[in-house]
Amino acid sequence: MEKVTIPELKEMKREGRKITMVTAYDYPTAILADQAGVDIILVGDSVGMVMLGYSSTLPVTMSEMIHHAKAVVRGVKRAIVIGDMPFMSYNASIKEAVKNAGKFLKVGCDAVKVEGGAEIAETIRAIVDAGIPVMGHIGLTPQRFALLGGYKLQGRDAASARKIIEDAKALEKAGAFSVLLELTTVEVAKIITEELTIPTIGIGAGPYCDGQVLVVTDILGLTMWTPTPKFAKQYVNLSQIILNALKNYVNDVRELKFPTEEHSYHMEKGEFEKLVSSGIR
Ligand code: KIV
Repeated sequence: MEKVTIPELKEMKREGRKITMVTAYDYPTAILADQAGVDIILVGDSVGMVMLGYSSTLPVTMSEMIHHAKAVVRGVKRAIVIGDMPFMSYNASIKEAVKNAGKFLKVGCDAVKVEGGAEIAETIRAIVDAGIPVMGHIGLTPQRFALLGGYKLQGRDAASARKIIEDAKALEKAGAFSVLLELTTVEVAKIITEELTIPTIGIGAGPYCDGQVLVVTDILGLTMWTPTPKFAKQYVNLSQIILNALKNYVNDVRELKFPTEEHSYHMEKGEFEKLVSSGIR
């Protein structure tokens, strides 16, 4: 099982081989995603919303991200692991951005992802210059949902489409190895994919991107408190399966069906009799 490399992603784009990417936040999911042959595993700041119960990604901290990144890294042998830089870990100063990006590599990630377009090109350049591969993230950038007026489709009119395309070019020029396009019109994603030499990875950006990413809990049906977005595909309803399993466990304990002899351990032969004759009760 050979490790996927960053340069290989560009090769995959050139050869028209689709790149697969999924989020993971823990050790078991990382093992399974890696075994499934996913090329890139993103320790996304979506962890805040899908694992920690926050209402946005804004509260997520560097230490939370590093905690989850460490668990994922331990489970992965083949895929590229990307650490997602949380809100305010790269926004205040370039120096801090480079330092925080470095923390992900220190715990075994292969690269980082940052949200933003031309306005953070300089930051991306500095992180890349420090030897840290960077994936850009444009279109809908959830850390700026307030500025964008909510989690809305991006690139609907010519002016906003032009801005996203220019952002993509700025990220490539700054040294990003790939650009993630979130909730972006198909037309814009297609132009960007054709114009850039680095791969595009889409989520809600249509079929023309060089690769696709989904949030793993959407694939697995584990975000039962909110509807699965139209752009995602749920492959299994794990929340129902887990709920049924837990209900069965509760019933078994209450009805004395668990644990039984097969789940129990006994003292060594003759030791129980010794214990009783010792006058323990
Ligand atoms: O944090 C995340 O899950 C993301 C998605 C867009 C894949 O950035």
